[in-house]
Amino acid sequence: MTEPADDVPDGAIEPVAAPLNLAEYEAVARARLPRMVYDYYAGAADDEVTLRLNRAAYESILLRPRVLVDVSRTDTTLALLGHRLPFPILLAPTAFQRLAHPEGELATARAARAAGTLMMMAGTLSTTTVEDTARAADGPFWFQVYVFRDRGLTAHLVERAKAAGCTALCLTVTFPVAGNRERDARNGFALPAGLDMANFRGLAQANFPGTHGSGLAAFVAQQFDPSLTWEAVEWLREISGLPVLVKGVVTPEDAVLAVEHGAAGVVISNHGGRQLDTAEPTVLALPRVADAVAGRVPVLVDGGIRRGTDVLKALALGATAVLIGRPYLWGLAAEGQPGIERVLAILRGELERAMALTGRPDLRSVSRDILSGAPPPR
Ligand code: FNR
Ligand code: LAC
Repeated sequence: MTEPADDVPDGAIEPVAAPLNLAEYEAVARARLPRMVYDYYAGAADDEVTLRLNRAAYESILLRPRVLVDVSRTDTTLALLGHRLPFPILLAPTAFQRLAHPEGELATARAARAAGTLMMMAGTLSTTTVEDTARAADGPFWFQVYVFRDRGLTAHLVERAKAAGCTALCLTVTFPVAGNRERDARNGFALPAGLDMANFRGLAQANFPGTHGSGLAAFVAQQFDPSLTWEAVEWLREISGLPVLVKGVVTPEDAVLAVEHGAAGVVISNHGGRQLDTAEPTVLALPRVADAVAGRVPVLVDGGIRRGTDVLKALALGATAVLIGRPYLWGLAAEGQPGIERVLAILRGELERAMALTGRPDLRSVSRDILSGAPPPR
């Protein structure tokens, strides 16, 4: 046995210090961020069971490698609602990005543009204005909406998003009430001085109400409309003339209702485990939702995607594309815009490798039979 030795000869390759994977980005971000911010980003509802299961479910799905297929080229391109994308990974909407980095949403928009992917801008709760973020995106983006009790305010925001160039709206439906996030309650989660909900500057809606617990929870209780129903999908289509995706569907029943109400796409999401704890992990819900939707609209999925093999499994189970949330916030906190670009490049590289090792040269060839336990190919 040789000792792993400090006496490495001169000129030997140094170990790589930069993060090699998304988990390492989280470690860097955790060391840099104030506790309140890290907890808000990383945390989830109640006992954080769904947060853990979102990951564990991917880890429990096993792959069947196929060999001796020409994978000298792997093609990850796809078409999605009129966009041509280089790879099937989008940036999920996340609130308050200037908590992670001074450039916040602007860095995210620039990173999405540099990588050629789509950012779903968290319109309602962003710390930069839709106009500024759209300028940074300098190209297509999607705009995520929470519907306020004050519909007029929501309609006005949607008009601004459309004027700024958004190509689709995304209605997030996981938030009739705020999830019970005990980390935020304990930390008294609040926006530090100098940060606000930039789209509402000058209005009461720009800031959290005072509270000893989670400022976000108090804000949601005051502003978000808990009486929202499927009618909202049609309303958003009518006022905007834009395609509307529904984000936060987990059951086939709701996926069918979304399509019946004119949704242009569904995003299977349990909000990263931040709303209903013990909700089923999204990757388990995915095949049932994909079967119910039956190709009528694209099916996207998020929650717990941290490796290229996770992306591959989601595609095999019927997703058109996936979204990541926390991982790009870790990239943003660690390194700003280049950190997000690296997170995307790592995940894309891992997807390409996983495709090669399962003998799938392009996304069309990714099918359920690459999963262990799936019925054999016909
Ligand atoms: C979110 N998410 C979210 N979703 C949304 O529609 N509007 C929002 O404003 C936010 N805000 C938000 C903040 C933070 C800090 C997180 C972590 C998440 C949910 C997000 O879009 C996505 O569904 C999950 O983050 C996906 O899970 P992963 O990738 O984080 O595991
Ligand atoms: C979240 C919100 C605001 O914190 O969507 O999950």
